[in-house]
Amino acid sequence: MVVDLFDKLRMEAGPLAKYSHLPDDYFFFPKLEGEIGPRMLFNGKEVLNWSLNNYLGLANHPEVRKADTEATAKYGLASPMGARMMSGNSVNHLEFEKQLASFVMKEDAMLLNFGYQGVFSTIDALVDRKDVIVYDAECHACIIDGVRLHLGKRFVFPHNNMENLEKQLQRATKIADENGGGILVITEGVFGMSGDMGDLKGIAELKKKYKFRLLVDDAHGFGTMGKTGAGAGEEQGVQDQIDLYFSTFAKSMASIGAFIAGDKRILKYLRYTTRSQIYAKSLPMPLVIGGMKRLELLRTRPELKNKLWTIVNAVQDGLREKGFYLGPTKSPVTPVLFKGGVGEAANMSMDLRENFHIFCSVVIYPVVPKDVIMFRIIPTAAHSLEDVQETLTAFAALKQKLDDGIYRREELVAVTKGV
Ligand SMILES: Cc1ncc(COP(=O)(O)O)c(C=O)c1O
Repeated sequence: MVVDLFDKLRMEAGPLAKYSHLPDDYFFFPKLEGEIGPRMLFNGKEVLNWSLNNYLGLANHPEVRKADTEATAKYGLASPMGARMMSGNSVNHLEFEKQLASFVMKEDAMLLNFGYQGVFSTIDALVDRKDVIVYDAECHACIIDGVRLHLGKRFVFPHNNMENLEKQLQRATKIADENGGGILVITEGVFGMSGDMGDLKGIAELKKKYKFRLLVDDAHGFGTMGKTGAGAGEEQGVQDQIDLYFSTFAKSMASIGAFIAGDKRILKYLRYTTRSQIYAKSLPMPLVIGGMKRLELLRTRPELKNKLWTIVNAVQDGLREKGFYLGPTKSPVTPVLFKGGVGEAANMSMDLRENFHIFCSVVIYPVVPKDVIMFRIIPTAAHSLEDVQETLTAFAALKQKLDDGIYRREELVAVTKGV
């Protein structure tokens, strides 16, 4: 029997379905309006915003805005037309790649028009059915999708568990040896949900015993970690052990696009084989020129990263002093973990927005276990210490109300407030 495809799909909103009578743009697809920064409008009211990965505050930096505007006026958004390989190349693209490679201490780099497609397509280009992939269980969806495309064997190791990774490498080595294939290990520099770093040092150690290549997605580490901002590899002193270094421009660089960097030989191979780039339009010129301005600021204004870390330390130390549990974060990503269900999470989030005028992302099951509520605070260089104090006070009040069972007792705050 053939069923209707759409009937087969369960058209429900998952565990939050019981709140689906609320406007679609409150918990899901919220609209933050106004210039990007710590104070934005949500639902017509100003909120203190901790939800953007604008780590270095570049999104609204006057020099960035000027470079973006001038490049757009000069080139428009169409230029260059076509994929890099056919008609979409330019001296600016090549120059930006040179600068990125040098910044992350690699021989060569390739621009990617989107990070997500770039990652899964790079993985697809690197391995064939004889090869084996070994990857961290908490890797981002773009890595998981790359692994899904793989026709050969793959092994997953529990997050940052080096003992288990070694076991998986033994299994992978046996298979690769039989097949005459290679091994690709994939992890992240900084994990975007928990904020802890991939154990790059531990993985690099295993390179002494096992033959594999290492691909690191450092979306959250680029610009925020390491002495120069070159990322988690620099922070852990093993940048040279990363065979392929990836970062998106969607976070510290506050833009769109991404890049992958490594040895000249492998980058040449990737230029000719990465399907998401060969068959897609190249990065528009204003993004390339604006990207170079961002990289210049990232390189030459250490005060931006220093300010970011002043705010990070104030938020994280302040929360820990007040007894909050932040998990194993070692980066600006600041998860605040509570015990509670989805209903309580919705109530807390609404209280925070409506009564404390603070906006930060709330993460619930299935991203975290069923009884865990995670508020994810993303500090940036654009925040102030006053913003931090305001937030610490609000979180203390929130915790008290949660402990008193107020969020469990009350009907959704939204309903009582008529939002
Ligand atoms: C770890 C990680 N990798 C890759 C991506 C995808 O990058 P993009 O937004 O450029 O597609 C993201 C999200 O931006 C990410 O957090």
